[in-house]
Amino acid sequence: MDIGIDKIGFYVPKDYIDIVELAKARDVDPDKFTIGIGQDKQAVPKPYQDAVTLAASSADSILSAEDKKDLGLLIVGTESSVDESKSTAAFLMDLLDLPEDIRAFEIKQACFGATAGLMTAYDYISQNPDKKALVIATDIARYGIKTPGEVTQGAGSVAMIVSQNPRVLKLNHKSVYMTKNVGDFWRPTFSKTAFARGKYSNEIYVDFFQTLWDKYQAKYDATIDDFDTLLFHIPYTKMGTKALRTLDGKIDADKYAELTSHYQASIRFSRSVGNLYTGSLYLGLLSYLINGAKAGENLLMFSYGSGAVGELYSAEIQPTFAQGFDQANILKMLDDRQKMSIEAYEKMYQVEYENGTIVDPETVSEKFYLSEIKDNERLYKKA
Ligand code: CAA
Repeated sequence: MDIGIDKIGFYVPKDYIDIVELAKARDVDPDKFTIGIGQDKQAVPKPYQDAVTLAASSADSILSAEDKKDLGLLIVGTESSVDESKSTAAFLMDLLDLPEDIRAFEIKQACFGATAGLMTAYDYISQNPDKKALVIATDIARYGIKTPGEVTQGAGSVAMIVSQNPRVLKLNHKSVYMTKNVGDFWRPTFSKTAFARGKYSNEIYVDFFQTLWDKYQAKYDATIDDFDTLLFHIPYTKMGTKALRTLDGKIDADKYAELTSHYQASIRFSRSVGNLYTGSLYLGLLSYLINGAKAGENLLMFSYGSGAVGELYSAEIQPTFAQGFDQANILKMLDDRQKMSIEAYEKMYQVEYENGTIVDPETVSEKFYLSEIKDNERLYKKA
């Protein structure tokens, strides 16, 4: 039975900051941010948006009444959760009008969460072929104002419906993975912003990619010629470049040039959105599907979540892939965003809603929003 991604949806907040303006405000050479880090724009969420509302928005863009009827599993991967107990998935049940006979929960393992969700969904569909699973990656990446990581922030969400006979991507069930206790990135429960040993994190990421690629070749007797495209976890686009570069000189030069050109197509959206944490690999997938993919291509996907878990798996683009997403809407959403000044971004960044906050609906321009915090409980509304 073929199992994989049948539909893919995306949501990005309506505001962004320009990375050249950020560089100037931080007294940094803009080339460092646009070339050295590889970013152009950074999505900025409103204070009434969080992991729940972002997730609702991407899922709402793809869910049909028939999908809802067939859903048996809902998994949200996030490291920006709003509650230590209740899952983001539970909040979504009302916002998305989902039927109650669903197993819904949240997975956390840094940027690996969505991949864990996808693999769990694969197993679920293999046992329940007539059902569907919804996997959502949702995050707000925050390192703090004037930190080295500030240029690698971002926000957004990717939702995927997993089913049999998928229209977009067939997962080949060929996968290698590894886990190590690594201190490259962490966010203690008291902190809204992450802590990272940025350069160490890069080293571990590249190490994991090399180890897993060796493992994959040995396990499946594979070579690079088995793949048309490599997609990477891209918290900022230079990071994937570093992993790709480990192949330079080790594989045929034409093949390396082909992989590099496909990689460029996969990072277009990330360059103008920023870090989606666990959604980053899947934003890369969507970018590739819209900007470069051809039916029948074989993909090798590298997922990495600090702390650290890595997985390298293969997948095949289906002939019907273009039916699985709304290209015009996604491009319009990216184009219609508005630029925010660095000053306005800094001000908004400091806004912290406390218990007792009531959000005035007149100030809201999004469909899903945090409406109130009452008795320390977050309440949401659909406009
Ligand atoms: N023109 C062009 N390039 C320039 C330049 C200029 N004027 N000045 C510097 N550069 C280049 C540098 O040569 C360097 O390139 P390489 O990486 O290829 O060597 C690059 O710009 C960055 O320069 P620095 O290393 O000096 O930059 P930095 O000290 O500010 O650190 C960073 C960069 C480590 C990425 C930092 O932004 C950071 O800590 N980011 C947050 C951590 C992070 O993103 N970690 C990886 C993600 S982990 C993950 O994905 C999270 C998860 O699982 C939850």
